Amino acid sequence: MDHFSLVYDLCRAALGGDPKEAKEVVKKLSVILAKSGEADDAALISRLLKSKNGNGERRAVAFKESLASTVEVFELPGEQLHVGGHIPVDRESGAPLAEIIPVAQLHSERPMLGAALEGAVNDLLLEWQNARSLASLGLTPAKTCLVYGPPGTGKTRLAHWLALQLQVPVILVRLDGLMSSYLGTTSRNIGNLFKFANTYKAVLLLDEFDAIAKLRDDPNEIGEIKRIVNTLLQELDARRAIGFTIAITNHPNLLDPAVWRRFEVQLETPIPDWNQRLAIIGAFLPPLEVSEGKLQLLSWALDGCSGAEIEDVIIGLKKSHALEPNELTFVQRLTRISFAHGGRIKEEKRLLLASDVTSLAVALLEQPLFSQARVAEALDLNRSTVSRWAKLKQEKSELTDGDGTADSVCDQPEDVEKAAGS
Ligand SMILES: Nc1ncnc2c1ncn2[C@@H]1O[C@H](COP(=O)(O)OP(=O)(O)OP(=O)(O)O)[C@@H](O)[C@H]1O
Ligand SMILES: [Mg+2]
Repeated sequence: MDHFSLVYDLCRAALGGDPKEAKEVVKKLSVILAKSGEADDAALISRLLKSKNGNGERRAVAFKESLASTVEVFELPGEQLHVGGHIPVDRESGAPLAEIIPVAQLHSERPMLGAALEGAVNDLLLEWQNARSLASLGLTPAKTCLVYGPPGTGKTRLAHWLALQLQVPVILVRLDGLMSSYLGTTSRNIGNLFKFANTYKAVLLLDEFDAIAKLRDDPNEIGEIKRIVNTLLQELDARRAIGFTIAITNHPNLLDPAVWRRFEVQLETPIPDWNQRLAIIGAFLPPLEVSEGKLQLLSWALDGCSGAEIEDVIIGLKKSHALEPNELTFVQRLTRISFAHGGRIKEEKRLLLASDVTSLAVALLEQPLFSQARVAEALDLNRSTVSRWAKLKQEKSELTDGDGTADSVCDQPEDVEKAAGS
């Protein structure tokens, strides 16, 4: 048989599953066929070679694209955690040391944190979604995160949301509860708890983390307390190689540098600013709908409030709408609500809300973020009225050399023109 050695090589390459070798043999066959005058057969084989090369390239591109579109969700090590399973208890009191929050019961809404903090949270998630790429550089995603900020600023909600993104349950521990009145028991509790947490695929959420600092300050039993704190810090260090831990505190100033150092990521949830307030109000308002001006009036009134306080006031507003749908104007309703939430809404805002509409309008016009159109919308006034008041105020302040006060800008009650139907 002509070219038997070539056919033999081809069979060997095909059976050995080596495409590179097979391609070389096929190339040789094409050259030999061409040399021996069998041009058509040689061309046929050349075309076959080219088409196979093309397919290979297309496959490579498709593979790369599929890699890019695949989110590599990092697999936490450990067994699946089921609710109702064994949870370690405090030997003295019999109280469970932790609470399990299954994935289905985690807060599913992402808290509104403001652009900068949301960027930092996204970066943390990006680390988890690209754990394999990090591993190729010898790096691992951050596994310890401290969330700190004033009460009601969304710390717990953020921790839940992070666990939800990882699709794992939360093992919630209140550090205060872990500290037994018997110091010896406390060390054992810490050991048992971490052993339990390290066994399962879960986020360990240590709430009231500042309890560790309170312990340190206790003048009694200094030696034993130091040992307990060290046990906790060692357990935290060891867990870093195993699972994800989030610690939460309202009192970051109580934590000393040794504790701060333990946390790769440190997220501060602040009291919301103007834009964050607008976002939080917008999230809690539905199904109630209000104009942009009224949304801004709410954001102005809720200055200094935490997310939780904003939520409470908006719930009050919705209740008022449900109970007295038409009787009150928006400002009258908000004024009542503000006095029912005296501890949440600043006195200065409450008094302005309760004063005459002119003073309120002028106070709002002084805010750089309020345009005349928005003030008119917020207070159900004609735009021309607001613009007249703004002009009067301007003239008055020029006359008094920048020392004019707002209260006598307009003292004619008939100047208050309600916008028809607004
Ligand atoms: N930034 C926010 N975005 C949306 N909702 C928020 C925000 N901050 C607080 N809330 C709402 O306030 C309530 C309390 O939030 P959360 O429990 O997360 O606060 P916290 O910071 O953990 O408070 P605490 O320090 O008292 O434990 C929740 O119902 C949450 O929906
Ligand atoms: Mg909380």
